[in-house]
Amino acid sequence: MQVSVPFSPEQASTFAEGVDGLYGFLWVLTILFGVGITLTIFYFAVKYRRRDEDEIPRPIRPAMRLEVAWTVIPFIVSMGIFAWGASIYYKMYRTPDEGLDIYVVAKQWMWKFQHLDGQREINELHIPYGRRVKLTMTTEDVIHSFYVPAFRVKMDVVPGKYSSVWFEPTKPGRYQLFCAEYCGTSHSGMIGWVSVMEPSEYQAWLSGGAGEGSLAQTGQKLFQDLACISCHRTDGQGRGPKLEGLYGSQVQLQDGQRVVADESYIRESILNPKARLVSGYQAIMPTFQGLVNEEQLLQLIAYVRSLGPQSASGGANPASAQPQPAQHQGNRPAEPNVPRTNPTPTGPQGGAERPPQ
Ligand code: CUA
Repeated sequence: MQVSVPFSPEQASTFAEGVDGLYGFLWVLTILFGVGITLTIFYFAVKYRRRDEDEIPRPIRPAMRLEVAWTVIPFIVSMGIFAWGASIYYKMYRTPDEGLDIYVVAKQWMWKFQHLDGQREINELHIPYGRRVKLTMTTEDVIHSFYVPAFRVKMDVVPGKYSSVWFEPTKPGRYQLFCAEYCGTSHSGMIGWVSVMEPSEYQAWLSGGAGEGSLAQTGQKLFQDLACISCHRTDGQGRGPKLEGLYGSQVQLQDGQRVVADESYIRESILNPKARLVSGYQAIMPTFQGLVNEEQLLQLIAYVRSLGPQSASGGANPASAQPQPAQHQGNRPAEPNVPRTNPTPTGPQGGAERPPQ
């Protein structure tokens, strides 16, 4: 029986080559030094072995050149590794301005994905290749870690905050998604698939059934249900600041600071309104902690985001361009928990909303 064990996973994102190049270099370097040092030890052990009982070694004279050489060479090599690693790191961890935005909520023990168009998926993510994909991620319970080896991407998902990660898939295919942080009994079952499709296929997939309306529309419905609209009035005369044009703009706070109204700021303003109060307004807004879950928070944020002026992540983004301030309000439930696609149940949970027992 022949078993082929690949040295590294398939390369399916723009990061893969850089990461593999550096990793391969570290391998070669480790082997060269490891083998070289081991052989030298054996050689010296034989060559300079004690030959008779009362042999006294010659005194060692310091060899300046040798000392300098074995200090400077490793220094240069390690600084080279540092610079090489840092360049890859900065590329990976600086989120680009534009890209396809997708929201991710992790929970024990599944991955939930929300597309701006309204599609919701569990343990299955559909994206096109050749385009940057930006994930904004949070969790409903404990720490998880989003890990797609084929993309060379791994990022912790931490309760109470948004972490983000981006990548650009380079070829169609199905790639395994893992949770890479031990998170309880079924941690090992917290797996899924990322389906990378041809851009045209992806468009077809997108239009194939967003019956629930876009994320922003769902958010707008929730915004009305929670009566946020009674204070955050569009004419700016309400008791709370008006939200039109907020997303991505600079906000003047009561304490004189200025912040950018990004996802994290809006999230905090909903859960802990007094934390960073907008200048000119009173601390009268109640907290919505416990009233809205992480998914609903993302819906509200998507709604605020759709009110413009334009996404902080660039206007040239076809995905975020379409969620218009939605005018139609159906009477569908505020939180339709229906996974739209999950053709291949991959874990014991098989796309069910309930964690497996
Ligand atoms: Cu989630 Cu391990």
